[in-house]
Amino acid sequence: MTMTARVTSPNRVDRTARVVVATAFGGPEVLAVVDEDIGVPGAGEVRIAVRAAGINALDWKRYSGAMGTSARLPMRIGFEAAGVVLDVVGAAVGPAGRVRVGDEVIAFHIDGGYAEEVVVPASAVVPKPAAMGWEAAGGLMLAGTAAVHALTATAVSAEETLLVHAAAGGVGLMAVQVALARGARVIGTASEGNHPYLRKLGAEPTTYGEGLADRVRELVPRGVDAAIDCVGTDEAVDVSLELVANRDRIASIVAFQRGGAVGIKILGGGPGADPGTDVRNRARLQLTALVEQGKLEVRTRSFELAEVAEAHREGQAGHVSGKLVLTPTAYPARPRLSKISGGGKRSTSPRGVGQIRSSLRSSTRPRWVAHRIGGREQRQPPGLTRRTSRRRAGSRRVPARPGTRSGRRFENARCRPLELNCPFALSRGGCDPRLCRVTLVDMADEQDATDREATR
Ligand SMILES: NC(=O)c1ccc[n+]([C@@H]2O[C@H](COP(=O)([O-])OP(=O)(O)OC[C@H]3O[C@@H](n4cnc5c(N)ncnc54)[C@H](OP(=O)(O)O)[C@@H]3O)[C@@H](O)[C@H]2O)c1
Repeated sequence: MTMTARVTSPNRVDRTARVVVATAFGGPEVLAVVDEDIGVPGAGEVRIAVRAAGINALDWKRYSGAMGTSARLPMRIGFEAAGVVLDVVGAAVGPAGRVRVGDEVIAFHIDGGYAEEVVVPASAVVPKPAAMGWEAAGGLMLAGTAAVHALTATAVSAEETLLVHAAAGGVGLMAVQVALARGARVIGTASEGNHPYLRKLGAEPTTYGEGLADRVRELVPRGVDAAIDCVGTDEAVDVSLELVANRDRIASIVAFQRGGAVGIKILGGGPGADPGTDVRNRARLQLTALVEQGKLEVRTRSFELAEVAEAHREGQAGHVSGKLVLTPTAYPARPRLSKISGGGKRSTSPRGVGQIRSSLRSSTRPRWVAHRIGGREQRQPPGLTRRTSRRRAGSRRVPARPGTRSGRRFENARCRPLELNCPFALSRGGCDPRLCRVTLVDMADEQDATDREATR
């Protein structure tokens, strides 16, 4: 894909990004990675550079045609993503307050998360816990909010015993951990290979299959107080009915038909189910708080965007433990500056050029070095050579803008991100030119002033 003359908004000219689409209704073979115009954010919307996007069974259920074939094709996919805010338009306020350029966020419930970039309403955006990895953040919300909804619907409280069917799956692991955090005792069904991990979390695992009710009774002779079904098998529904006295305290997120017929709670987007929109919306900040408290983790396995069909085949096989996520762009382990930009007024960016300039002022050792470009000395980040900046970046003159002392700017240049702490860096070193928003500004005036001050 060619990404030339890409300029940060409001002057942004290239709006294309790699996205995953379903080109037809069918299996994973209908998935394709294409360049698509993702548009620009409107009022109250934000654009996010996606670092990780959660994969959910609902994704393939949608494009398989099982949920109807009225959706328009090609269909963007992905209900959740985590990434860095690139643009903000208007008063962008999410559930945790104002959303700013450079914020590290989780976006849910959204459409089209399988992408390098996505434009979403700010209301869908919550802050990513600082210590949380991108993959974990990308896979937290859909499963996590469903788990909180199921625990709320079944009113699980401290000292009670909960049975979770498919406890090692995406939703199951969230339900297990949130229930444990609430002080409940948790029995979870899973194949043997997942027992050690469930034990490590504090749950009591048992194998599903024939004799399940007896095995649970051995652990809890008086029966369990509540059950959450995350697999939808007859066994899960029948064993729950056998062991839980009150049907109001059994919930299924899968067995919509059978669950409805036997009078247990069915939750989610299916016919006759409780969508729990408010509970799930509120759950987003509860989940990030649990992560911050060290009470919730997300087990992940990641795939690159181009491996999306393979990831879906793996998911459809039905034995994933935790979450599968897509990582559309690589990134440095811990970016410190959320955004680096230069030139002109960037009122949306609290951490733009002003931050760089103030760090220049407070340091006697300049972080920017001089190069001669076009016969004039320029200040540039250490490591950026004149040749690379001209060849790769295509430096150009732009008219002076209010707020800049010089009209000379170098846009979309590659930098050495580890030195600049650029959030758009690839982990292998060097910026991803499709994401790099570093704008080299003629810093000569400022730098000279800094140097004069330092030698005074
Ligand atoms: N209604 C809603 O709001 C909502 C929300 C999210 C998801 N869902 C649905 O809920 C289901 C689960 O989603 P998920 O993301 O948790 O799926 P998942 O991660 O793919 O679940 C896989 C897990 O299922 C377990 N499993 C497979 N066969 C089993 C069986 N016969 N009995 C018990 N466990 C079995 C596997 O355990 P082992 O590997 O140990 O065998 C594996 O850990 C999907 O159908 C999804 O569409 C609904």
